[in-house]
Amino acid sequence: MSNYHVEPIDRPQALTSVALKSLRQHPVQGISRRRLLRVSIGGALLLWTTELLAGTIGFLWPNLKGGFGGSVKIGTLDDVKLKNSSLPIDQGFPGYFQEARAFIVLFDPGRQQFVPGDDPHGDGAALNVRALYQRCPHLGCKPNPCLKNFWFECPCHGSRYDRLGQKALGAQYGPAPRSMDRFAAKVDTDGTLTLDTSKITLGPLPIAVGQPGIIPPKSPVGCL
Ligand code: FES
Repeated sequence: MSNYHVEPIDRPQALTSVALKSLRQHPVQGISRRRLLRVSIGGALLLWTTELLAGTIGFLWPNLKGGFGGSVKIGTLDDVKLKNSSLPIDQGFPGYFQEARAFIVLFDPGRQQFVPGDDPHGDGAALNVRALYQRCPHLGCKPNPCLKNFWFECPCHGSRYDRLGQKALGAQYGPAPRSMDRFAAKVDTDGTLTLDTSKITLGPLPIAVGQPGIIPPKSPVGCL
């Protein structure tokens, strides 16, 4: 028989001052619980900050780059005519601007100019120009302006609007519940039109053809 005796390695040691000193001098192998906690909290904070930053940039991006959803410079009436040179813009026919997703229409073709000023509700009378959002208020298709009658006609379900986007009342003029929506606009002193496509005013309720507030079609026959 031997007197040799092996101490189990996990037997609790008395926390004498010598033992504590030894523990402090020998760092823990691997990663400590405290360090793991710090790394986890730091990583979560970094992720949260990155998401917040990305969301803010995504929200502001249209305004920063001047695209749809922010401010879009259209130009003068001459620019609108030039860009839509095959269309009778000077007679009040709508011109199209893809970058603003908008139709630009002379309010009163008897005055061949945009008038400087601000129009936050997009009515168009004061500036002599109205900017209409391209989405049909029914289900979102893009109405087309028709050269025959100077009206907008929606190819999806046949809603019809005059050249200023006013919906004609009656089932025969389609199911849209209101007129085309409008963008806030401003015209500088040099006649340059700029739209704020972040500000949309809903179009008014339909009006019966023949009543004030809707322009009759130029021809009884349309394009649809
Ligand atoms: Fe225009 Fe239905 S989407 S009439």
